[in-house]
Amino acid sequence: MITNTELEHKGNLYPTALLSYEHDQGKINFITNNGVRLEITVLRDNMLRFRYATTGIFSNDFSYAIDPNQPHGFSQLKVEEEETHVLIHTEKFICKVAKDDLRLGMYELDGTVILEDELGFHWEESFHFGGNFVKMSKSSQDQENFFGLGDKPTNFNLKGKRISNWNTDQYAFGKDTAELYKTVPFYIGLHSNIAYGVFFDNTFKTHFDFCHERRNVTSFWADGGEMNYYFIYGPQMADVVTTYTDLTGKPELPPMWALGFHQCKWSYYPESKVKEITAKFRELQFPCDAIYLDIDYMEGFRCFTWNKEFFPDPKRMVAELEADGFKTVAIIDPGIKIDLNYDVFKEALENDYFCRRADGPYMRGKVWPGECYFPDFTNPEVRDWWKDLYRELIGDIGVKGVWNDMNEPAVMEVPGKTFPFDVRHDYDGNPCSHRKAHNIYGMQMARATYEGVKKYNFPKRPFIITRANYSGGQRYTSTWTGDNVATWEHLWLANVQIQRLCISGMSFAGTDIGGFAEQPSGELYTRWVQMGVFHPFCRVHSSGDHGEQEPWFFGDEVLGITKKFVELRYQLLPYLYTAFYRYIQEGIPFLKPLVYFDQNDVQTHHRSDEFIVGNHILVCPIQEPNVQGRRVYIPKGTWYNYWTKKPVVGGKEMFVEAPLETMPLFIKEGAVIPNYPIQQFVDELDFEEMTLHVYYKLGKETSEFFEDSHDGYEYRQGQFSMRSFKVTGKEDEIIVQQHKSGKYSASYTNFKIKFHGIPFRIKRVFFENEDINPEELQFDVDEQTMIVDKDFSELHIVG
Ligand code: GLC
Repeated sequence: MITNTELEHKGNLYPTALLSYEHDQGKINFITNNGVRLEITVLRDNMLRFRYATTGIFSNDFSYAIDPNQPHGFSQLKVEEEETHVLIHTEKFICKVAKDDLRLGMYELDGTVILEDELGFHWEESFHFGGNFVKMSKSSQDQENFFGLGDKPTNFNLKGKRISNWNTDQYAFGKDTAELYKTVPFYIGLHSNIAYGVFFDNTFKTHFDFCHERRNVTSFWADGGEMNYYFIYGPQMADVVTTYTDLTGKPELPPMWALGFHQCKWSYYPESKVKEITAKFRELQFPCDAIYLDIDYMEGFRCFTWNKEFFPDPKRMVAELEADGFKTVAIIDPGIKIDLNYDVFKEALENDYFCRRADGPYMRGKVWPGECYFPDFTNPEVRDWWKDLYRELIGDIGVKGVWNDMNEPAVMEVPGKTFPFDVRHDYDGNPCSHRKAHNIYGMQMARATYEGVKKYNFPKRPFIITRANYSGGQRYTSTWTGDNVATWEHLWLANVQIQRLCISGMSFAGTDIGGFAEQPSGELYTRWVQMGVFHPFCRVHSSGDHGEQEPWFFGDEVLGITKKFVELRYQLLPYLYTAFYRYIQEGIPFLKPLVYFDQNDVQTHHRSDEFIVGNHILVCPIQEPNVQGRRVYIPKGTWYNYWTKKPVVGGKEMFVEAPLETMPLFIKEGAVIPNYPIQQFVDELDFEEMTLHVYYKLGKETSEFFEDSHDGYEYRQGQFSMRSFKVTGKEDEIIVQQHKSGKYSASYTNFKIKFHGIPFRIKRVFFENEDINPEELQFDVDEQTMIVDKDFSELHIVG
């Protein structure tokens, strides 16, 4: 008989030689002599799934990450046996399985290596908890770089890093803090101009090592569960990211107001303070769409209650704010105060909805309200109950968005800052301990919240924001990067974290602009707003215990500059909304790191300062104090400096001036950028005309502009319009063609077209193929503008 102690010393275990395999409709099953089973599922021409069972038996196949509606299906599959390997050919790549030890290799059709196992799958038995530590190691290629993994506050390129995923409340985290609020066990490898992705769908604590321990090896492992991962072949990073996002799901379109500017603080109360803040925004004509209520709006921090002393009539207040163009967003945490006079607590107790410790008692922990119990959001019945708790807050009072926080879950004053491992969860009918459910607890809370807000806000769209999340959580909620600090280093981190989240399937993300902890200088605040207006989610938030963080707090200069940038965001809303539409339709990140934008250019592989919003705007935040400019890498192609309108040829780094009132910003040549007039909040104005900025290019470029009614679900019935603009520039001509699809027609009638960079003097104008007098289009020579019907099809300018 083997004792546990003897086994403990055995260390890693490995699959042995192949006993047999069989192929049945896209699933290829391998069994080894020592009983290891490997199931390979062909999901798409560019995606395979690998599952290993060390005892030959798989547990129930269940995942919170995978979108049940994910599109899959492949066009070609051939399985053939060679002397040493079994080969799986899809239309796009080949997977080889070694017969003597089950090691895998992925190859392009011409044989080029994409990714090969080093030790491949191995495992170690976990005597303490049962089950296995499941491990995988892969060889890395020369010059290989790594990207992805959600919100990790470290270098954008992950090469040389070791990272783990265990959702953690990290107040004032720092650079390289290993564990943060979210778990996105998905990374992208890039070498030889080939990008591929690995998604390790395992909710236990997971670990990734990118050539940190050994120079040519990457590995990933989990403290339990199955070795269950998806391999996605590019070769473009865009293919990898969009395939991953298809697999784990895309959100619905947010209401446009959610892309406006949001103001938050811990906490604005009482009502008079909230009103004072919103009134000041309007008085200063500083655009703002949402105001947040942090925990102090509640009665003793009891979720779904109001402090009636501070907020005597929330329904009236919310309505008044709404009439002034402000949506109210309220925080809801998971901890429910232990209080038998509190309905929410009583209901959950009576229905047995709270998490329990292994031996039966409830999981008790301290959060803001004091001692709390915590709903088990992994139980569908609990999620249903939670959803209906929003009836009053959303349906009756009229709050428009919900902010879920502390859902890692965070517990105060205990080691580990969270639940102990033994806490039990339903896990949708797959009962387990907290070791397995920890990383998806926050996601399931946000999911239940999403369903509630959606139900009671219908037919308007819901807005949810969460701190903790897991892969796939983007289907339900937006996110922010948690409790950052008002330092220049955190501004740098914010830039990297949002780029990382965007290529990790979670585009709807932002940071606490200005920093949550501590107090920014006016300069830091200004630089952060300048960057933040280009992030998908744009909210100022602070803990408020070190001074104020409203834009007027820092004096007139800061107010003037930040206002100008927030106005720019409001002008760009149609452009940003279009970028968002591409994200929800195709999983294309809202903003793109340079390596995503042009992976062929190796200069981009180690850059993280610059990013591209949508397809045509290059942003390079200023991340240092006291500078008048900085060096910027301009991607290949010609770009116009947004401020000077001067074109520059990219593919190189150059110094760009950026005194405090500007930030390096470039527009790609040939772009058509739609602009709304400046508004104080979304849909404030009924305007007659909007502007299209057309940037001349010698050659062709296509841009698009998506529009709908900014809220509601009619867009799903075809009530949207997608305008595609093709710009063709020649030496002495520029042609702008429009193709429109969709049934929606906005209320304005005209586009003011403003040309930039035309290298000739405009002599003749052909409108819809007719030679016309430019005056008919109110041509303004100095401004280089013309006014055309919004449904025009062709404007042809000749020099
Ligand atoms: C957490 C959140 C922060 C919030 C505070 C009070 O620290 O991350 O955003 O303001 O709790 O609710």
